[in-house]
Amino acid sequence: MEYRYLGKSGLQLSALSFGSWVTFHKQIEDNTADTLMGIAYDNGINFFDNAEVYALGESEKMMGRILKQKSWDRTSYCISSKAFFGWRGKNNKPNQTGLSRKHLTEACHEALQRLQLDYLDLFFCHRPDKKVPIEEVVWTMNGLIQQGKILYWGTSEWSGVEIMEAFRVADQHHLIGPTMEQPQYNLFERGKMENDYVEIFKKRGLGTTIWSPLASGLLTGKYNEGIPEGSRLALSGYEWLRDGLIMDDRIKRTKKLNEYANKLGVSLASLSVAWCLKNPNVTTAILGATKKEQLLDNLKALEMVSRLTPEIMERIDKIMQTKPQLPEY
Ligand SMILES: NC(=O)c1ccc[n+]([C@@H]2O[C@H](COP(=O)([O-])OP(=O)(O)OC[C@H]3O[C@@H](n4cnc5c(N)ncnc54)[C@H](OP(=O)(O)O)[C@@H]3O)[C@@H](O)[C@H]2O)c1
Repeated sequence: MEYRYLGKSGLQLSALSFGSWVTFHKQIEDNTADTLMGIAYDNGINFFDNAEVYALGESEKMMGRILKQKSWDRTSYCISSKAFFGWRGKNNKPNQTGLSRKHLTEACHEALQRLQLDYLDLFFCHRPDKKVPIEEVVWTMNGLIQQGKILYWGTSEWSGVEIMEAFRVADQHHLIGPTMEQPQYNLFERGKMENDYVEIFKKRGLGTTIWSPLASGLLTGKYNEGIPEGSRLALSGYEWLRDGLIMDDRIKRTKKLNEYANKLGVSLASLSVAWCLKNPNVTTAILGATKKEQLLDNLKALEMVSRLTPEIMERIDKIMQTKPQLPEY
């Protein structure tokens, strides 16, 4: 396993990490989750990602039960949670969602209870909250750090401007600013990582824990001939995801990339994950899996990164046509 520093912080995360969105509680039960977390840990993964909203709190409870059983040394791994969406679904009342001091503080306490932990290593604002002043968010996160309830705080899917505003507030009041952002990053979604955040990486040293490196599985080629039964995009309640992801031109490009992966002698999944890791601004790519074969296949990406020459990267860009167009100057 390779370990990368989380931005300019002193924390080292494994380049591949493991998350529980959609899978824990919805698709897999404790036994499988236990096996997958075991494989991840045994292969050097030291970061497990979670959020209050995943399976409406049940994902954190499941991870908490597994951690309890594993009895791994608490100092050997990092756990995250994220607040914003709440965990009561349609029953969320005012103050049970968003980024107010009240919700961030209570969401942190609730996540600690569900995960059966004393502190979170990483705590994210799962989305920006346009109605809450960024001052309130920065002061609250700084306070949670001072109380020892979280160690590092970050954002997820914030704009570059919002992240810079958080840094400005932190600088102004001598508070601890964001350490990391969690954006989507894969061969279809490149804008934030390769355009919007580039100056922040240079000037502030922001770390990233990128999500959906395989675009929910699309970049494994599994959807090339339709939607397999039991796969994520066949799940009821996830039609919005299926409709947003499956488009003819994406499938066409995925098929071409698959042919190229075959020529290189790797699986499309390993190639796609390795491509994410090739970007030095990625601290860790969070994997998701419902089966151990998937996780083992994706872990092979680590060996592939050094094989990605500039020529191969250029060929991938030509096939995918998703590289953001930046101005010449
Ligand atoms: N901050 C945010 O807003 C946000 C949003 C989304 C995710 N995340 C985080 O990022 C993590 C990873 O995201 P993700 O689960 O979308 O990652 P992903 O790698 O894009 O998709 C994972 C899914 O693809 C399928 N898959 C993975 N490897 C495969 C293989 N080798 N062959 C065939 N199918 C394979 C599996 O689904 P099936 O078996 O069901 O087909 C698996 O659950 C999440 O768990 C969560 O922690 C964060």
